[in-house]
Amino acid sequence: MSSAPRVCVVGAANIDLISYVPRLPEMGETLHGSAFQLGYGGKGANQAVMAAKLGAAVTMVTKLGRDVFGEGTMDNFRRWNVDVSHVLMTDEAFSGVAPIMVDAEGRNSIVIVTGANDLLSVAELDRAHPVIAASAVLACQLELPMETTLRALRIARAEGVRTVLNPAPARDDLPAEALELSDVLCPNQGEAAVLTGKPVESIEDAFAAARALIDRGAGSVVITLGELGCVVAADDEVQHVEGSAVSATDTTGAGDAFVGALAYFLAAGRSLREGASRATAIAARSVQRRGTQTSYPDRADLPAELFN
Ligand code: RIB
Repeated sequence: MSSAPRVCVVGAANIDLISYVPRLPEMGETLHGSAFQLGYGGKGANQAVMAAKLGAAVTMVTKLGRDVFGEGTMDNFRRWNVDVSHVLMTDEAFSGVAPIMVDAEGRNSIVIVTGANDLLSVAELDRAHPVIAASAVLACQLELPMETTLRALRIARAEGVRTVLNPAPARDDLPAEALELSDVLCPNQGEAAVLTGKPVESIEDAFAAARALIDRGAGSVVITLGELGCVVAADDEVQHVEGSAVSATDTTGAGDAFVGALAYFLAAGRSLREGASRATAIAARSVQRRGTQTSYPDRADLPAELFN
């Protein structure tokens, strides 16, 4: 067995249909876009590929449609050495898709039609129990059925596997158990605002939100703040990790680059603060290139200090 840090991702795979537009259209308006890109996405798949690109041994648990998108997604996982033994295919639904618009400032709007991902059942997830148990870190998001995600988190907790929950896309009805099963809860500032019911517009707001989420049961909290970096709350301490001001071309999937990198560094034995700091640097790289997974740096392109 390889000695690479082991990460299991239970989450969605989508095909991203990205249009680059000068601005978002008004209701009823037709607008010319300047470019289009079709790529591999889905928060779970993105995080799996990011962790694999950094050197983790990654197993992906997801469900694809038996269609051209599903076949391409399977090939893409194989290309990045992601273990696909728990990537299922169905004839009952199309693969998940995500029509995305990116404006001139690199900001995005995303619609997800999760399709086959919605059909990943608890019974199918249970077949991945041994793989979750053998991992150092389990990463989950909120694009699969909630019961399936909760089951994955429960298995990891019972097996002593560290859990990272990225509560995205945001929902205000997240079960309390999901927070309690999160060793590391990793929302962005919008998701943290939805979870706490209070705006998160500054580093101070993020400190308060992180404390509130710990009070509600999360083991530790990392709130990502874009170019302001992130706030890390763990062991009765809340700290700000600085980001870097970079010119963003496309922020799509930057949050997933962060979570996938964090999962890798935690599985490799880094502290939460060290992992968050390194993941911040990697996410900053991703916003400088177009696309979702296509914007993720390879380990060889990153400074060696990140891995020392
Ligand atoms: O976080 C970005 C991702 O959200 C995209 O890849 C899209 O598929 C949606 O899941």
